Amino acid sequence: MTSILVFAGSTRAESFNRKLAAVAAKSGEAQGAQATLIDLADFDIPIYNADIEAKGTPPDVLKLKSLMHAHAGWVICSPEYNASITALLKNTIDWCSSPAKSGQLHGPDVEKDWGDGFKPFRGKVVGLMAASPGGLGGIRSLSDVSKLLLNLHCWVAPEQFALGRAGSAFAPDGSLTDPKSAERVAAVVKQVIWAAGRLSAPSP
Ligand SMILES: Cc1cc2nc3c(=O)[nH]c(=O)nc-3n(C[C@H](O)[C@H](O)[C@H](O)COP(=O)(O)O)c2cc1C
Repeated sequence: MTSILVFAGSTRAESFNRKLAAVAAKSGEAQGAQATLIDLADFDIPIYNADIEAKGTPPDVLKLKSLMHAHAGWVICSPEYNASITALLKNTIDWCSSPAKSGQLHGPDVEKDWGDGFKPFRGKVVGLMAASPGGLGGIRSLSDVSKLLLNLHCWVAPEQFALGRAGSAFAPDGSLTDPKSAERVAAVVKQVIWAAGRLSAPSP
């Protein structure tokens, strides 16, 4: 079974991107994948600073690196701030792509296991979505996150979705009210499952 990791680049309680991530995870399960929905609020990760890192990579960064590595595909729901991605999402990607340091927190195994900064990213198939109260749905953030992920040797799925007017897009139960939007989410997730299943297969 193909596994997908789903998360949003916002920790806001009523975040549209967190809601969209929940819809995507549900769609993944409905399409036969094993979907893990995580909330970045559950990870204690400071703003990146090499001095902090030199004392030992924060344990929650290692936890997130492991989760990323353990899933064949990811779906990221990226809010748009000033036509780009949020500081939270950039910070998360920066920490998780930085070679881990043992410092005073960990034994040498941490550098053996996570000294390759590309390890959590290489070969991952990533589906991108955005949600915004604006009409463009946050689509401009997707080209920026795509650039970062390609640089880290992820395979970005061509199918993407930006949900505009997100303030009125969700029903009280968290589902999308417009079936066309739900179909677009399902199409992104479907492509991630399809491609991740193929890319994670052992080479002949
Ligand atoms: C600093 C800042 C900049 C923003 N810039 C944009 C923008 O460029 N485009 C856009 O569509 N929305 C922009 N917004 C509005 C966000 O899309 C909106 O706050 C959205 O709800 C954030 O995502 P979330 O609901 O998942 O937290 C901005 C919001 C903030 C706080």
